[in-house]
Amino acid sequence: MKKRYFFCLASEIQEHIFLVREVGGKSVGAIRQNGNIRLLLNYCPHAGAPICKGVLVPAQLCDADQTLVLDPQKPQLRCPWHGWEFDLENGRPAFESKMRLAFLTHELEGEEVYVSV
Ligand code: FES
Repeated sequence: MKKRYFFCLASEIQEHIFLVREVGGKSVGAIRQNGNIRLLLNYCPHAGAPICKGVLVPAQLCDADQTLVLDPQKPQLRCPWHGWEFDLENGRPAFESKMRLAFLTHELEGEEVYVSV
């Protein structure tokens, strides 16, 4: 059963930089993407790496001419162990797979961020 924990103040969560804390016995990371706050388990679904130590890289897309273009507006989180890349909007890897980042429900109460773990 999930429990609700205080995580941090909203102002502590920065754009493109993970804030990692232990909550309810789990390592949890928080990041701000285009102003939106996301909280997730610091655990790569592939083999358990601390995914929040990964780097954000621009998404690689094919345009109409089949040319590879980079989209910095859609950053992907690259795992530090094997380099898999995950979309921070939906948690999906860059290829077809059922694996997903484990986003966590959070609530804002004024300036305080609470997470359910
Ligand atoms: S543990 Fe993350 S890609 Fe392998």
